[in-house]
Amino acid sequence: MEIIKKIKDMQHVIKIEKQKGKKVGFVPTMGFLHEGHQTLLKEARDNNDIVVLSIFVNPLQFGPNEDFDAYPRDCIRDEGIAKNLGVDYLFYPSVDEMYKGERTTLIKVEKRVDVLCGKHRPGHFDGVATVVMKLFQIVSPDRAYFGMKDAQQVAVIDGLINDYHLPIELVRVDTVREEDGLAKSSRNVYLSEKEREKAPYLYKALILGKEKVLEGQKDFLKVKKDLEEYITLHTGAHVEYLEIYAYPTLQELQAPMEDQNIIIALAVKFSKARLIDNIVFSYNKGE
Ligand code: PAJ
Repeated sequence: MEIIKKIKDMQHVIKIEKQKGKKVGFVPTMGFLHEGHQTLLKEARDNNDIVVLSIFVNPLQFGPNEDFDAYPRDCIRDEGIAKNLGVDYLFYPSVDEMYKGERTTLIKVEKRVDVLCGKHRPGHFDGVATVVMKLFQIVSPDRAYFGMKDAQQVAVIDGLINDYHLPIELVRVDTVREEDGLAKSSRNVYLSEKEREKAPYLYKALILGKEKVLEGQKDFLKVKKDLEEYITLHTGAHVEYLEIYAYPTLQELQAPMEDQNIIIALAVKFSKARLIDNIVFSYNKGE
């Protein structure tokens, strides 16, 4: 595995790999790799000639009161994991390297962001779209791997790829969970022992919600209220949002239609951790 810190070097090695006809799979991350990230990397390894992993904690997507400085980092451990999983190139730039000089443009995401995390984190998805676009220009992947844990992010990247005609296949990877159902996340380390015991109720609530919708409950306001109460009762944590939308457009659903993809998404604030999770299913098949 080669560790690359400079944009020009990364572009150079990819150019050579592409001249040899190699297909490039790309997994962008902010590091502190857990099994969720590792599943993305394994999928990329299985389906491409070359695997590029990027680790970059992107300041542009953190709000002023968010956890940019405190975001967990462990590059030595990450390097070991990446090597074991057969990553070919680890792109590991500094903030100065990625944002050198004055920035002239910013990608402004106009749809799919006025709800869920986008509504509560103004500018967050502009920061994500901008850095992902930059990374795409640096790595020129054939396939890019994103986790459905961040379903709104996937919806935004889907829009980015379509809007800018990027010749990149977006591969959506199912959320990887702990045995008790808690979605794996770098932020789970912020949970106290007691909170960690209660956190699986988030996924339980999502499954309950899916059941209610598939059983034919059409009053989504009531479904949302019931689920919020369920979470508050079992965790005592603050439900920042719990919403039901069409996916990936993230538009309001009056009543579900046949073959409609539905997302139930939530963000819950514990004392130090803000956790997000979601479930996406088809209204008909209940998958
Ligand atoms: P990060 O939070 O490090 O996540 C990197 C990728 O891992 C994302 O696509 C995310 O959805 C996926 N992932 C995280 N937890 C997962 C889980 N439990 N199961 C499946 N996939 C999971 O998302 C980002 O970084 C950044 O916004 C980034 C796209 C790198 C842009 O800065």
